[in-house]
Amino acid sequence: MSGAQLLDRERIKELFDLRANTLSFTGGLQAIDPYPLWHELRASGPVHPGTVHELCGLEGDLFWHGLPEPDRTHFSAFSFAACDHAHRTPEVFASSPGAVDTEGDVGYESSMLAMGGVQHRRYRALVQPSFVPAKAQWWIGKWIDETVNALIDSFVDQGSAELNVDFCAAIPVLTITGSFGIDVARALDVREKLRDPSAVADIVAPIVEARRSDPQDDLLSVLAQAEVSDEDGTHRLTDAEIHSFAYLLLAAGSGTTWKQMGITLAALLTRPDLLDAVRNDRALLKSAIEESVRWEATDPMFSRWVVEDTELEGVAMPRGSVLHLCLGAGNRDPERWERPDEYDPRRSPKPAMGFGGGPHICLGMHVARAEMFVGISALLDRLPNLRLDPDAPPPELVGFYERGVTEIPVLFG
Ligand code: HEM
Repeated sequence: MSGAQLLDRERIKELFDLRANTLSFTGGLQAIDPYPLWHELRASGPVHPGTVHELCGLEGDLFWHGLPEPDRTHFSAFSFAACDHAHRTPEVFASSPGAVDTEGDVGYESSMLAMGGVQHRRYRALVQPSFVPAKAQWWIGKWIDETVNALIDSFVDQGSAELNVDFCAAIPVLTITGSFGIDVARALDVREKLRDPSAVADIVAPIVEARRSDPQDDLLSVLAQAEVSDEDGTHRLTDAEIHSFAYLLLAAGSGTTWKQMGITLAALLTRPDLLDAVRNDRALLKSAIEESVRWEATDPMFSRWVVEDTELEGVAMPRGSVLHLCLGAGNRDPERWERPDEYDPRRSPKPAMGFGGGPHICLGMHVARAEMFVGISALLDRLPNLRLDPDAPPPELVGFYERGVTEIPVLFG
């Protein structure tokens, strides 16, 4: 595959940098470590009035799930138990403030991310079979393996690389756009247009048309052929429904795994003994990936909308409020994990919340795991003596509502 080389390196650099204008609205310019603040907040109470960033003393309008909603009262949950309860009680802590109109404007608000109850179950069931663990090999064989190896081919003879740009950024975007039949040449257009969902729909529309009459072995064909049942009977998904579904999958699939793979690689590269251990024991690599999603979840906050007057951990919440679930804080709750701030892939496994929880738990988590495992395994197999470049600045963790590392400069050979 020459596809990976077709991606413009300068464009990747701009589009996959949390500090760049295109992404800094989620807090990319923040170089703070929020975990000590989250520990303090949790210790003084599991739930507080206010948004997570206000409670941490950050100023300005940040944009993320459930933000900005200036007319609503906000609360934030910092303990594992409080976040877990909200995940599991969607009838009170809903994924949107009201009913979802699937024919509404293309975007998250019209997608299954915002749905609840039976509507969510019906739409999620359409794509769930393509995302179960048994389907991981389909994703690996059709898109992941080829992309990973083409990327390594592009720098293997150089003896050095910058893994954020040369590797982590390209794998998820090429995998998810590949599964939509989107040409490699347009893969970065999708990423660039995520702020304008209708522009993403324009890219997908002609392929939907083609897949309706001539289905292929890809995810967009699954959507183009899908039928959903509701009170009015059974119907094929409309264009509007497919476009919002596609938007959700393209956005969620291209933006998260990139950052989590970088976090995992940086954690391993800065611990050379551990890197050696995972090189020799790939079961430990699987644990290293899971531990990274606990220790430094790339998207550490998602929201719920309170749809009836309620109380959480003794804090009264009126109907109409927004509850921010600080999954990052929950993942380091000392009530659940010993030495919670330590990155320790050998700790005994316990479910964490980096992939969410309850009915909206990440649909793509097995694809994300496969991308990270196949990617890091291939680096370890093909690049002997892989190590951080001692003469370059080490990777730095940045961001607030999206967390990730800066450059990952490595040497090998
Ligand atoms: C390491 C990478 C990833 C992380 C950390 C992550 C995290 C999450 C989280 C926390 C949620 C829950 C949101 C909520 O509760 O409101 C979620 C939902 C979702 N994710 Fe991921 N995600 C990752 C990769 C992916 C990939 C690769 C895909 C697609 C290929 C994907 C597709 C989705 C979808 C469609 C949902 C919505 C599910 C629903 O509403 O039922 N994610 N993700």
